[in-house]
Amino acid sequence: MIYERLVRPLLFALDPETAHHFALAFLRTAGPLLSKPPDTLSPVSAFGLNFRHRIGLAAGLDKNGIALPAWEALGFSFVEIGTVTAQAQPGNPRPRIFRYPKERALINRLGFNNDGAEVIANRLAHLRERGSWPGIPVGINIGKSRITPIEHAVEDYLFSFRKLQAQADYVALNISSPNTPGLRELQGSQRLDELLRAINAERANLPVLVKIAPDLEPAALDELVSVCKSNNISGIIATNTTLDHSAIARDEEGGLSGAPLQKKSTAIIRQIATKTKIPIIGCGGIFDADSAREKIEAGATLLQIYTGFIFRGPKLVHELAKL
Ligand code: FNR
Repeated sequence: MIYERLVRPLLFALDPETAHHFALAFLRTAGPLLSKPPDTLSPVSAFGLNFRHRIGLAAGLDKNGIALPAWEALGFSFVEIGTVTAQAQPGNPRPRIFRYPKERALINRLGFNNDGAEVIANRLAHLRERGSWPGIPVGINIGKSRITPIEHAVEDYLFSFRKLQAQADYVALNISSPNTPGLRELQGSQRLDELLRAINAERANLPVLVKIAPDLEPAALDELVSVCKSNNISGIIATNTTLDHSAIARDEEGGLSGAPLQKKSTAIIRQIATKTKIPIIGCGGIFDADSAREKIEAGATLLQIYTGFIFRGPKLVHELAKL
């Protein structure tokens, strides 16, 4: 209640990116002081990891891994940081995040603004040394640096993978952001197979997941799932933001997230679940218990939230943790 009545009006009075930085700065400082929530009673296991419940924080909110202790304190059962790229990069010019309160949606074209794999790996190593590492699984989402041509994408991912794998409970390969030109080409069978083989040669027992777009045609999705199966991929995160902006009147370039994405991402989860037993992390338009249950019934084992959390705050995490 405090979030929706008090904190959100203050944050929504600021432009979206200022609000984002303000909230993260607060969580970075306050996180270590917040007490850890008690263990809940609906534990889930997937790809060799144990989770207190199904609800994690989706990639993109804590891109640089600066507020790790806060996410556990807010009640999340896992957190995915990133997207991290091999090169530090500023992302696209501002403004690049847009709010649609009536549609309960966001459009973003951030373009992987982040500190780069090396700086983030050092930050995470220091956090461990200081004993401030959270008690929940931490996933690290990696993507391609903007300046790297698609033909050299594999080396770029490998650079980040090598830097970060020691800090990660799982690594997610982001091949689905719409804001890095050409990135979604990596969802094609041949390019994906090449990327997964290269990562497999180095991953040892580390779980590796693939994060996919909601805009894949059914045949392309089937092919992608077979490539994931043949490369022993540990999980599929479905989905990233969509390029389908039909629900939005005042359009902006970028990826759309939130309520208008809900049914589309659920349909993708349902199709994957008919083809494979690979665990699915369902993501897209989860705002309440009903929209979360829809994804579990479609075949998701774990869930992630981003836009729902921006609109509803920590209360949503606590509501969903009981599922
Ligand atoms: C994202 N998302 C995202 N995904 C990713 O893999 N890497 C990233 O860096 C980002 N960055 C990012 C920024 C912003 C502002 C938003 C709104 C989203 C996508 C996010 O993790 C998630 O997949 C989608 O937003 C769908 O879930 P929701 O938001 O509908 O719960």
